Amino acid sequence: VGILFQLMLLFFCLSLGSAVGQVTYSIPEEMSKGSLVGNIGQDLGIDVKRLKSGKARIYTEDKADYIELNADRGLLLVKERIDREALCGQTTPCALHLQITLEDPIEFYSVTVEVIDINDNVPTFQKEEMRFRISESAVIGAKFVLERAMDLDVGINAVQGYSLKPTDNFILKLHNQQDGSKNVEMVLQKPLDREAQNHISLTLTATDGGEPKLSGAMRVDISVLDANDNAPVFTKKMYKVTVPETAPKGTILSTVSATDADEGSYGNVLYSIANTLDYVPSIFQISKENGVVALTGSLDYEKAQLYEIHVQASDDGGLTDSCKVIVEVTDTNDNPPSINIMSKTNSVTETSKPGTVVTIFNVQDPDSGENENGIVHCYVNDNIPFVLKSSTNNFYSLVTDNELDRERASEYNITVSCSDEGVPSLSSSVTLTLQISDVNDNAPVFDRSSYEAYIVENNTPGLSIFTVKATDADWNQNARVSYILEDSSVNGVPVSSYVSVSADSGVIHAVRSLDYEQIKYFQFRVKAQDGGSPPLSSNVTVKIRIQDQNDNPPQILYPVQTGGSVVAEMVPRSADVGYLVTKVVAVDVDSGQNAWLSYKLQKVTDKDAVKQRLTVIVEDNGQPSRSATVIVNVAVADSFPEVLSEFTDSPHDKEYNDTLTFYLVLALAVVSFLFITCLVGIISVKIYRWRQSRILYHSKLPVIPYYPPRYSDTLGTGTLQHVYNYEVCRTTDSRKSDCKFGTAASQNSSFKSSTAFVISTQ
Ligand SMILES: *[C@@H]1O[C@H](CO)[C@@H](O)[C@H](O)[C@H]1NC(C)=O
Ligand SMILES: *[C@@H]1O[C@H](CO)[C@@H](O)[C@H](O)[C@H]1NC(C)=O
Repeated sequence: VGILFQLMLLFFCLSLGSAVGQVTYSIPEEMSKGSLVGNIGQDLGIDVKRLKSGKARIYTEDKADYIELNADRGLLLVKERIDREALCGQTTPCALHLQITLEDPIEFYSVTVEVIDINDNVPTFQKEEMRFRISESAVIGAKFVLERAMDLDVGINAVQGYSLKPTDNFILKLHNQQDGSKNVEMVLQKPLDREAQNHISLTLTATDGGEPKLSGAMRVDISVLDANDNAPVFTKKMYKVTVPETAPKGTILSTVSATDADEGSYGNVLYSIANTLDYVPSIFQISKENGVVALTGSLDYEKAQLYEIHVQASDDGGLTDSCKVIVEVTDTNDNPPSINIMSKTNSVTETSKPGTVVTIFNVQDPDSGENENGIVHCYVNDNIPFVLKSSTNNFYSLVTDNELDRERASEYNITVSCSDEGVPSLSSSVTLTLQISDVNDNAPVFDRSSYEAYIVENNTPGLSIFTVKATDADWNQNARVSYILEDSSVNGVPVSSYVSVSADSGVIHAVRSLDYEQIKYFQFRVKAQDGGSPPLSSNVTVKIRIQDQNDNPPQILYPVQTGGSVVAEMVPRSADVGYLVTKVVAVDVDSGQNAWLSYKLQKVTDKDAVKQRLTVIVEDNGQPSRSATVIVNVAVADSFPEVLSEFTDSPHDKEYNDTLTFYLVLALAVVSFLFITCLVGIISVKIYRWRQSRILYHSKLPVIPYYPPRYSDTLGTGTLQHVYNYEVCRTTDSRKSDCKFGTAASQNSSFKSSTAFVISTQ
């Protein structure tokens, strides 16, 4: 410093050589008190004595009294510490103007003391920090003016430069102003990201050019303001959820979540379903605020197995993101199988062979076919002659499995049930009603193996005897039974002349009046035939027995009752009691009770000694009974002529007897002739009629016995003289002589068949 000042002093001296009385000094500021400013005695050429004598004084315009004069030594000294900044501020050069005055003579000398700056001031900022709020969307190149630093020093000691650190986002730019000062700006050179760094702290340093350099710093505080520069972002691009199709409404499926790095409304995420073309919005709902995806409709695996929900998240700034929620619907066994009849017959004939197809159907289960919910099995009810045959693709045919018989079962209710394998299993069924149609496979069957009926003789023609009945197990026409009388003959006569059968009702009618005495029994066959094609038939034997009626009175065979002839029984006068007088022989062609005959002798009132007239009544046992009477003449005489004279008192009787004899002879000849003729005829037709002739032979009445020709009837004439007691004698055949005697009182007895009534004397 000393050298510098000496040089400067020299300069001044040289420059002011001619200008007497003026000197300039330069001193740095902040010199300590008493420091030498300049030797004015020497520099101005003033003797020290002069200074003393002249009473040299310093006069300064400024109030500040920085410099003092040491007159003794002729030196200017620093009286007060000089602060250039205080003295001059930014004015340069900074000079103190002094006047040195001398008296005797008055002399003026100008002294200029230039105060030279030293770097004694640090650059300073007015504020400790500057705060900025900068949007993160600020574009590159955006400028932000910073405060300048102040340095009281001047010149090189003033602020020379700035720096801003760190320099990540901003750089510093200095603009030279017109006034020479510098405008300090920071310029954004790299975008801000609030989300990365929402607060930036920078240090602005101002440095002066002094030696050494001094610097001052200020904090620049930047708050990065949010911009909607971030779209919401889903945490996952795809959410997958599996839900059973039976899930109820309101089921929460998933919660999607998107985050937005922005703040406030820019970071506020709202969710929505973006599907517009399908029906997803009607089935699913998302909660706007919290992203909960819920089911609001109903699912059906059979309609859709997969849904893609496009979820959009958006912030208030309109930025969006999207994600997918894949909803996979799983099958539940919620559908029973459905049975579809493809073809169906309502009836099959009972002769259908096993294996006849009755119905074809298919079965479908809308549930998934891959799992057990869609696997279906079908079966039919037990104990029916049908089975299911399954073919591919769930087609089934119902076929007959056995012989059918309409008569056993004319209708089947076939229940086809199908069930799937789901848990629990669902099933459905259909009932098919199948009619078995009739085939004429049953013949009519009579309700009895044979019939036997009775009819009382003398019936009215057309009388219904009884009814045969046959039933046919078939149906309708096949069961319509007609009755037909089968051809046969009875006693050589077609049976149809005896009976007829009503075709519809099976009632058997008698065609003619029957006579027990002619025919007692016959049989025929009735055929029952149904209306089928061809018809089936069966037959049955019907036996008809004719029952007797008491329609024939007893017939007196002996004594023979002729018109006018008188036949008398001759009883010798010597006859004892018990003498057989005669036999009354009678027959009744009826049978049974109707042919049981009883004989009664009417009491004789006429008491003639020679001839007696007995009246015998023959009664059968029928209801009512029928009777015949015979008159027996009894002559009591010792010789035949005597008797004869007793009875033949009229010539008319004798003539009658001759005529009778003639007729008898004639009849005998005719009968003999006829007999021979018949014998020849019988032999010739014997082969054909052998059977019938046998029946005829058996039904013949008993042979008329031989009667003694000497008796003649005396019908209604003659009386017996004495009262006789009569014994009743019974025989079973008048041709036999043996007889039994009853008591005398028993005059009224019945006998079976042809009976002889024996009259004997007492
Ligand atoms: C079949 O079902 C019908 C109607 O339910 C019924 O009337 C009929 O008696 C049934 N048939 C058989 C053979 O069970
Ligand atoms: C009657 O039925 C029997 C079997 O019951 C049969 O043998 C016979 O030929 C049938 N007669 C007629 C005439 O149809």
